[in-house]
Amino acid sequence: MKVLELYSGIGGMHYALQESGIKGDIVAAVDINTIANSVYNHNFPNIVLMNRNIQALSANEINDLNIDTILMSPPCQPYTRVGLKKDVLDNRSWSLLHVLSLIPQIKTLKYILLENVKGFEKSEMRNAVLKCMNDCGFNYKELILSPCQFGIPNRSCYKRELGCWI
Ligand SMILES: C[S@@+](CC[C@H](N)C(=O)[O-])C[C@H]1O[C@@H](n2cnc3c(N)ncnc32)[C@H](O)[C@@H]1O
Repeated sequence: MKVLELYSGIGGMHYALQESGIKGDIVAAVDINTIANSVYNHNFPNIVLMNRNIQALSANEINDLNIDTILMSPPCQPYTRVGLKKDVLDNRSWSLLHVLSLIPQIKTLKYILLENVKGFEKSEMRNAVLKCMNDCGFNYKELILSPCQFGIPNRSCYKRELGCWI
């Protein structure tokens, strides 16, 4: 696979790809946050890392990368259960709408993995993603996964005597 990693942050998706054992190379990674990018650069010094706003990416630029896969972890604040749930009205979701507008124009694209929070599955954005997948002829599968399923502790409970979540 030749992979474009969008919203690459500190490189969690890159690491997951390595750990999965699936053969694939990250051709380029894109994130707007300079601090996250410096960590990404430390973790993966040989990757082309673009300090860019994804909303300004063009289909031509992506086609020039000749990728067949997009991995992406777009911002979760618009959909999370603990947020305002402004969904597609939250400007932090607009870059993903832009990515959806580019997908039909990316000639070599075969695979997309999108990761997000619980709450995304009930969002308008999720409907927009599925519409894009259907319009472009992708098969898709939606999964709600918890780290607990993989033996990683990820539950919290409120400790009244401490006055906080642990
Ligand atoms: C949920 S985090 C991704 C976490 C990532 N998977 C990791 O391992 O660190 C979302 C990322 O999207 C980036 N981001 C948000 N809006 C962006 C935009 N318009 N263009 C580029 N990056 C953006 C943020 O800086 C943040 O690093």
